[in-house]
Amino acid sequence: MKLQLFSLFSFVLLISSACRGEARRICKCRPNQWWCWPTGWDWDEFSTKLSTPNALIKNQRPMGAVCYPKDPLYDPVACQSLNYTLHGFDFAFMSSRINATNWYNYDSIIYPDYFEETEVGCPYFPLTPDSICEQGRVPLYAVNASTTQDIVEAIKLASKWDIRLVVKNTGHDAIGRAFGVNALEIFTYNMKNLTVHNNFVPKGAPRGTPPVPAMTVGAGVNWDQAYAAADAAGRTIAGGLSPMGTVGTAGWNLGTGHSLLSSHFGLGVDNSLEFTVVLPDASVVTVNEYLTPDLYWAIRGGGGPSFGVVVDITIKLHEAKKYTGAFYESYCNSDACFLELLTTWMKYHNAVADAGWSGIWPTCDRIFYLTLGTPYDVAPSRQTINVLKEFMEEAKGILGNHVTVSEFRDYDSFEDFCEKNLKQDPTAVGFNMTEIVFGQVQLVTSSWLLPREATAPENAAKMAKAVASVDSAVVVPFLVGGGAVNDPAKKSSSAANPAWRNTLVDMTIAETGSEFDDINVLQKTVHDDIAPFRAMAPPPYGGMYLNEADILEEEWQVAQWGEQYPRLLEIKKRIDPKDLLIVRMGVNSEGWDDEITCKTVTTSLAAYAFTRTKTVTTNLAAYAFTRTTEIASVWVLVVVLILTLVSLNWYLQLVDTRPVVSLFQAFL
Ligand SMILES: Cc1cc2nc3c(=O)[nH]c(=O)nc-3n(C[C@H](O)[C@H](O)[C@H](O)COP(=O)(O)OP(=O)(O)OC[C@H]3O[C@@H](n4cnc5c(N)ncnc54)[C@H](O)[C@@H]3O)c2cc1C
Ligand SMILES: *[C@@H]1O[C@H](CO)[C@@H](O)[C@H](O)[C@H]1NC(C)=O
Ligand SMILES: *[C@@H]1O[C@H](CO)[C@@H](O)[C@H](O)[C@H]1NC(C)=O
Ligand SMILES: *[C@@H]1O[C@H](CO)[C@@H](O)[C@H](O)[C@H]1NC(C)=O
Ligand SMILES: *[C@@H]1O[C@H](CO)[C@@H](O)[C@H](O)[C@H]1NC(C)=O
Ligand SMILES: *[C@@H]1O[C@H](CO)[C@@H](O)[C@H](O)[C@H]1NC(C)=O
Repeated sequence: MKLQLFSLFSFVLLISSACRGEARRICKCRPNQWWCWPTGWDWDEFSTKLSTPNALIKNQRPMGAVCYPKDPLYDPVACQSLNYTLHGFDFAFMSSRINATNWYNYDSIIYPDYFEETEVGCPYFPLTPDSICEQGRVPLYAVNASTTQDIVEAIKLASKWDIRLVVKNTGHDAIGRAFGVNALEIFTYNMKNLTVHNNFVPKGAPRGTPPVPAMTVGAGVNWDQAYAAADAAGRTIAGGLSPMGTVGTAGWNLGTGHSLLSSHFGLGVDNSLEFTVVLPDASVVTVNEYLTPDLYWAIRGGGGPSFGVVVDITIKLHEAKKYTGAFYESYCNSDACFLELLTTWMKYHNAVADAGWSGIWPTCDRIFYLTLGTPYDVAPSRQTINVLKEFMEEAKGILGNHVTVSEFRDYDSFEDFCEKNLKQDPTAVGFNMTEIVFGQVQLVTSSWLLPREATAPENAAKMAKAVASVDSAVVVPFLVGGGAVNDPAKKSSSAANPAWRNTLVDMTIAETGSEFDDINVLQKTVHDDIAPFRAMAPPPYGGMYLNEADILEEEWQVAQWGEQYPRLLEIKKRIDPKDLLIVRMGVNSEGWDDEITCKTVTTSLAAYAFTRTKTVTTNLAAYAFTRTTEIASVWVLVVVLILTLVSLNWYLQLVDTRPVVSLFQAFL
């Protein structure tokens, strides 16, 4: 009786444990797993489907490999060209690399501080003479894409073999989303087609939809190229502010996109009219408000590449305007002076934005800069100019404040302003933009979108104190909100963080370090530096800008998308049910580890066994199928062998086969 009860009890336990949800892991296929990873033959076959014979790069090595004496790629001359002390930071060069992001901490695997080695990668210079260049996060396989078909094939391959897929354009992403361990990389940087339309109407738009001027940019077009084309067409485009114009239009747009023209023309997402996208199921679709409203909503602000790999984007163009730049720079000789200067600025801050100015106001080491601009038709209004003049006048009177720059300059266009101030032009003035062109070093960032109440005059002293207390890193507040950005009707018109719709300033913090700095310490520093700003407006009132993410932000869903996350997640699960395009802190990345290799799912043993069996069977079936042709000769051998054995047996009478034969006869 006791025994029966006991076995009944254990049976119930067994059943319940099989049905109870428990944490289990499912993983993407890795190169060392022969049963799921494509063979050399599969790669060769894949390669024949691509646009050029060299488009597939196998066994890609990190860019720094040439600097390691022990590495087969060692090449001291090539290494010298990577020496930034010698050649300066060449950010444009870095952006164009297939085997490097812009900062080597994103090419490396980062482990927490308690591990002996916290950063495994390939710094451009060996830390010690006998260091080894480690693969880190540099993908082993890459497709140097130049056509839509290249992207389609890469997606098909990654989907079939369940391989991690990453998309790299310029590699500017602030938490390294463009790269990944054990991944297949789609390198879009060379897709530089660009077309200007005088009368663009999205496909499927109702008859009578007014045409607008627009520009279709390939996935690899950066702002430098787009500005030149807009200028040549006598138009203007609301794009990003980046030294050398290196920021890619693709990642910028998918992640929202702020511009010095946004308060006049809206955010990137407000100007992107249509996308050509390869979806995770490898279909090529036109995404716009008429044909695919859900996807159009999600892709604008949902972040790349979560909703598909973009082939091109059609962006609205605006009437060409003239542009006035305002530049200010001063140095305080005491903390008290600096605090007073910042407080004075904050009293004017919102009024300056509301008068039509946008720009940046970086501070460091008690230096305060303003680089602002405003577009106009005839001349900026007197009110626009006066509000800044008043600030400049008041600042001049602060004891201990030494003003070095305080002036207004006229430009032919916004593009002209960028050309003269974002490149190493001798006419550049004020804050040296090219000085923040940092490549090859380590970089960490953080950002916080502040609602206008936080930057209002009554909070001036509090804000000044918060800004002044960031002493370890460079604060670059982007004054890019207000005006058209704050249109309440736009609040849920795209997946962009709704916090933008009440934001004037995006507080960004960036810190760089050398190869000897502890990356975990750098990350923690900027994370702590942003905390006071975050506390002023926790999400969803304020938020983190997806394109300037803080890798340590824990509430990344609400911080990046506010209350819109559930809708985004629902669309993502529909578009990408197999988790093909997952990135760190991206939509539906919950459960995945930092490198998106394995996912922890809460599921019952039964459901888990079912999915695992299904995956393994599908993999094995795919494996067997693709190898059928490769190993046809093996099959022939097997058949020949069987026939030989059978004939041999018939001849020698070794085994009595009569029972088997009669069994067959009984059936026939
Ligand atoms: C110096 C500098 C200045 C900046 N200035 C601004 C600014 O003024 N305004 C602003 O809003 N932001 C700015 N940013 C942030 C910028 O928007 C982001 O770095 C953005 O990620 C850049 O996109 P990318 O395509 O250049 O880079 P990548 O890092 O190559 O791509 C970014 C993300 O998008 C994905 N992606 C890229 N291409 C595609 C594609 N074709 N299809 C699908 N997914 C894709 C990548 O996988 C990655 O996750 C700046 C960044 C830097 C480094
Ligand atoms: C990566 O970068 C280096 C430059 O350091 C280059 O020599 C190498 O060939 C590149 N490509 C591959 C596939 O490793
Ligand atoms: C880089 O160049 C500088 C200046 O010539 C030199 O001092 C330094 O040793 C070089 N670094 C490496 C790692 O080659
Ligand atoms: C990728 O292709 C482009 C042409 O589209 C070519 O210029 C470039 O050198 C190629 N890059 C690599 C790393 O093969
Ligand atoms: C780029 O433009 C060329 C010439 O018009 C065209 O042949 C090619 O298909 C275009 N590429 C893409 C990816 O659209
Ligand atoms: C800006 O900084 C760069 C890099 O340090 C320097 O080469 C350049 O001369 C500076 N430009 C101006 C206008 O000061």
